[in-house]
Amino acid sequence: MTKELIELRVNGRKYELATEPNALLLDVLRQDLQLTGSKRGCDDSSCGACTVLVDGVPTLSCTMLALSCASDERGAPEVTTVEGIAEHGALAAIQKAYGDWGGAQCGYCTPGFMVTVKALLDNNPEPTDEDIRGALSGNLCRCTGYTQMYQAIKAAIAAEVSSTSRTK
Ligand code: FES
Ligand code: FES
Repeated sequence: MTKELIELRVNGRKYELATEPNALLLDVLRQDLQLTGSKRGCDDSSCGACTVLVDGVPTLSCTMLALSCASDERGAPEVTTVEGIAEHGALAAIQKAYGDWGGAQCGYCTPGFMVTVKALLDNNPEPTDEDIRGALSGNLCRCTGYTQMYQAIKAAIAAEVSSTSRTK
């Protein structure tokens, strides 16, 4: 298949690359851009391990064409992977809390969870338990039983709330 030259915006950087029109965003991120945080965990859009943000919206990169994120006359959407959620060179609150609370075991699902939590907190800094469960309903973990993960998420929320109130 003939390759097309496309431009993507990922984690604040522009990338120009030649790719097949049917290439999936997940494969382009992992293979062409070497951003291997996002994972393929299923074949049927059911696990969320491949989740990235497209203009801030959690999106399954295993079912999205890279071409759909390419620059056109309106510009390109911003794709954010787990490699891009650190803030000003420091771990994002959810990254730190995962470490503190043992939110990951094998870690395969972790990047998808982290970007989903980031989107949740960006839009709703003080989510309820129901909001958290709703936001994470498309992300599956086969290891943790979810308890430590929820503790980590709650700790990240508390950290964000306290840093926001300190800056007021
Ligand atoms: S790899 Fe499972 S939803 Fe994308
Ligand atoms: S930590 Fe292993 S799948 Fe979630």
